[in-house]
Amino acid sequence: MNISPEIIEEIKFRNNIENVVSTYITLKRAGSNFNGSCPFHSEKTPSFTVFPSTQSFYCFGCGAGGDAITFVMRMENLDYVSAIRLLAERSGIKLPEDSIRNDGRKEVGRQRVLEMNKAALEFFKKSLWDENTGKIARDYLINKRKLSPAVINHFQLGFAPNSFGALHDHLKKLGYSDEEMIVGFLCGKSNKTGGAFDYFRNRVIFPIIDVTGNVVAFGGRVMDDSMPKYLNTSDTPAFKKSKNLFALNFAKNHCEKMLVLCEGYMDVIALHASGFENAVATLGTAITSEQARIFSRYTKKVVISYDSDEAGQRAADKAFKLLQEVGIDVKILKMDNAKDPDEFIKKNGPNKFASLLESSKTRFEFECDKALSKYDINNINDKIKASKDLCEQIAKYPSEVERELYSRKLSKLLDIPVDSILRDVNSIIRKNTYKDKKTEVNELYRKASGIGDRINPESVANIKANKAEEAILGLMMLKGEHLKACTEKLSVDSFITPLSKRIFEKISQAYKEYGKFDIGFIEGDFTLDEISRITRMQSERGRLSINDENVLNEYIDILSSEKQKSMDSDTFDSILDAIKNKKK
Ligand code: GTP
Ligand code: MN
Repeated sequence: MNISPEIIEEIKFRNNIENVVSTYITLKRAGSNFNGSCPFHSEKTPSFTVFPSTQSFYCFGCGAGGDAITFVMRMENLDYVSAIRLLAERSGIKLPEDSIRNDGRKEVGRQRVLEMNKAALEFFKKSLWDENTGKIARDYLINKRKLSPAVINHFQLGFAPNSFGALHDHLKKLGYSDEEMIVGFLCGKSNKTGGAFDYFRNRVIFPIIDVTGNVVAFGGRVMDDSMPKYLNTSDTPAFKKSKNLFALNFAKNHCEKMLVLCEGYMDVIALHASGFENAVATLGTAITSEQARIFSRYTKKVVISYDSDEAGQRAADKAFKLLQEVGIDVKILKMDNAKDPDEFIKKNGPNKFASLLESSKTRFEFECDKALSKYDINNINDKIKASKDLCEQIAKYPSEVERELYSRKLSKLLDIPVDSILRDVNSIIRKNTYKDKKTEVNELYRKASGIGDRINPESVANIKANKAEEAILGLMMLKGEHLKACTEKLSVDSFITPLSKRIFEKISQAYKEYGKFDIGFIEGDFTLDEISRITRMQSERGRLSINDENVLNEYIDILSSEKQKSMDSDTFDSILDAIKNKKK
């Protein structure tokens, strides 16, 4: 623990969980709790619950849970200390710097990487505009790619010179260590010497800047046809590819009507330069469900504007699905005489692109086009297949009105009575519902039997004991009297599974040190998944109305008899071993 408990309590007192959560998602009151759509997985019925009484949240769908601090960690992709800093800032609490002890490794944390990235960006920009060093890169950007100096400056493009040590030496002078440069992905580690060398060499640099203005990562493009075309920063303590979007820092101010999703950095830059400042791109990977949720926080409508080749269209298909799942109105834009938006604008100008945006198609129209190009609908077998494919598509719409309207369209398109289409659609829906239910039941069964518990693997072999452990730990977190009793009565050795041992150790340590407990005191010592599990223990106990001393003692008895059994079998095992050894 490296932050004082007083500060954590003060931060949590001023950052009420309901308020923190509702700055990100809409909450509805449900009895003494609040419900909403979980921001950590895609869902149609809200299973995300906020418990004001314990100042915690738990999602019954995906199992994510925690308090205000872990909520912000997950939401903003921050480490523990940075989340505390952010909440402190938001509520006007001044953190005395010495309240945060640097505990070495953990602190090659976000803040340090961000500082280093900022310094690296200054270096890249200086290299680009350096009379000699940057000439080749300026020539590429300005003459070959037709970017104006104003646009280059707006996006803060830079240049990594053709050297293994220029950036390294520069950062070294500023006090950054080799390890920091490697962790921050600015340097690679030499297999031979173990030393650090510049990762980006002889490449134009595209900085990735998050919505708060931090330089979180870089992309670097070669200036010829050599491979790989791009290098991108991998995940670092300050950056997760799957949770960021290129140019969202600009587009966030132009997104009321819609956002335009492109594949490439160059497409986004060309669009912004032509006045479409609502363009963004993923970072060299297919869109993830996390990115889809980011879109849903910023806008209601997205136009997908991917490359017109087959790979681009396949990727568009996937993006469609993910964006639709989070309730976004998704359209797709089709370009005929250009391979990507960058080329299209250069060839046809911004006005033509604006009309493409206007005429972009809904998912259903897009699927119809696809089916028409795949099947010959004058052939009866093909027509049946086309109808089947498109009925599958219609069945995916949650709203009955939408299904009705699309069925009418399909009826006209294929010249089939609308009633037949609706009957087919409904039968597909029934089949899908049955499948969903089956998966759900299997999932529940899997969870109930503890098979494949990723967070606490040993629970599988100790189901009964683990249930008792979780109840005891939940009770300790719920009530001060149980906390006191358990700390006195039990020890780490009373527990069986490793996760429970660790949790007990941290809880009782916090209690001995501060005379009380808050999950915020121990969060820094656990992973987010572990915190989710801890919150589940607490909220499950909170949901039950009987949680008195008798209940606690019953669980303690169960645990101790299970412990006895496991020790008996240990003894048994060692006797067996001894016999075996004698035989040899
Ligand atoms: P130009 O070819 O200069 O127009 O670049 P572009 O940005 O349009 O790139 P392209 O359409 O070829 O690729 C789309 C995006 O995929 C790029 O912006 C990169 O983020 C990513 N990408 C492309 N090539 C590579 C590669 O070789 N490695 C990695 N990691 N990412 C790549
Ligand atoms: Mn391109």
